[in-house]
Amino acid sequence: MPPLKIVKYPNKTLQERSEGVVEVDAEVSLFIDDLVETMRGSTGVGIAAPQVGRLLRIIVVDVTPKNPGHGELVLINPKITAQSGKRKGREGCLSVPGFIANIKRSRKVTVSALDRDGEAVEIEASGFEAVALQHEIDHLDGILFLDHITDMKRDLLKRKPEED
Ligand code: CO
Repeated sequence: MPPLKIVKYPNKTLQERSEGVVEVDAEVSLFIDDLVETMRGSTGVGIAAPQVGRLLRIIVVDVTPKNPGHGELVLINPKITAQSGKRKGREGCLSVPGFIANIKRSRKVTVSALDRDGEAVEIEASGFEAVALQHEIDHLDGILFLDHITDMKRDLLKRKPEED
């Protein structure tokens, strides 16, 4: 059982802006462990702290299913510092079970953040990893993938049961 309960749409917490992490102390480290475990216990390739009810700027991304060898990326106070290109692809969200949607995103992003030891890092990502980073960073500003849909009829799709 994942240690933390995932907050589901339309819970208002998902629309709130998260606070920056001031210090990566023991409590934050333990929370990160629980957040990672919660993602591992789900089908998601990413999770953001507000999805478990903590309004803190922390995300975890692991796109190993699409990019073998990716591994787990924990980012604290992540910020997109550059982006380029356009890409449209399917996205789902642990907080919006049962649906996927075609969403337009930047193809490449540069993200600066702190890693789980509190060290500054810069990540350059493209393709699916870039999409996952944009999706999770959006959660920190109270934005869901649903908010990017321009045509509900065309772009919001019911997930097939085997994809859940
Ligand atoms: Co999500």
